[in-house]
Amino acid sequence: MSGTISPEPFVWKDEYKVGVKAIDEHREKFFGIINNLKKVITEKDCRIQVSDIFFSLVHYAEHYLINEEIWFKESGYSGFSKHKESHNNFIERIIKFKEDYRKGKKEVCEDMYFFLENWLINHILHYDTEAVEWLRERGVK
Ligand SMILES: [Fe+2]
Repeated sequence: MSGTISPEPFVWKDEYKVGVKAIDEHREKFFGIINNLKKVITEKDCRIQVSDIFFSLVHYAEHYLINEEIWFKESGYSGFSKHKESHNNFIERIIKFKEDYRKGKKEVCEDMYFFLENWLINHILHYDTEAVEWLRERGVK
C-alpha cells in the first residue's frame, strides 16, 4: 500500500461520540493506538516499538470488539452477522501483520498504518456509528 503518513495526530472530537460511555472510551483508545503508530513511524522507530502496538491491538480486539458484538447481538441489531464478519477480518489481518513482522517484512508498519487508518474511518467512524444509530432509533440504550 502506498501514500503519505502525516505526522499530525488524529484528534478525538465530541462529534465522534455515540453517547455510550463504554463504546466511546474504546473508540478514543483506538485513536491513541493509531497515533502511537504514526509517531513511531515518523520517528523511524517502528521496528523496535511495534510489539507494543500489536499488544494494544490485541487488547482492543479482545476487550472492545467482543463487547461490541455481545451488545449488538443482545440488542437485536439486524446487521450483526456482517458486523461480526468485519471484526473477524480485522483480527485476521492483525494476525497476518504480526506474521509479516516476524518474517521481517520491511513495510509492515506502513501497511498496518494504512489498514488502521481505513479501519478508523470506515469501520469505527462509519460502520460502528451506523450500528449504534440503528439501535438508538429503536430505543435501545
Ligand atoms: Fe465494530
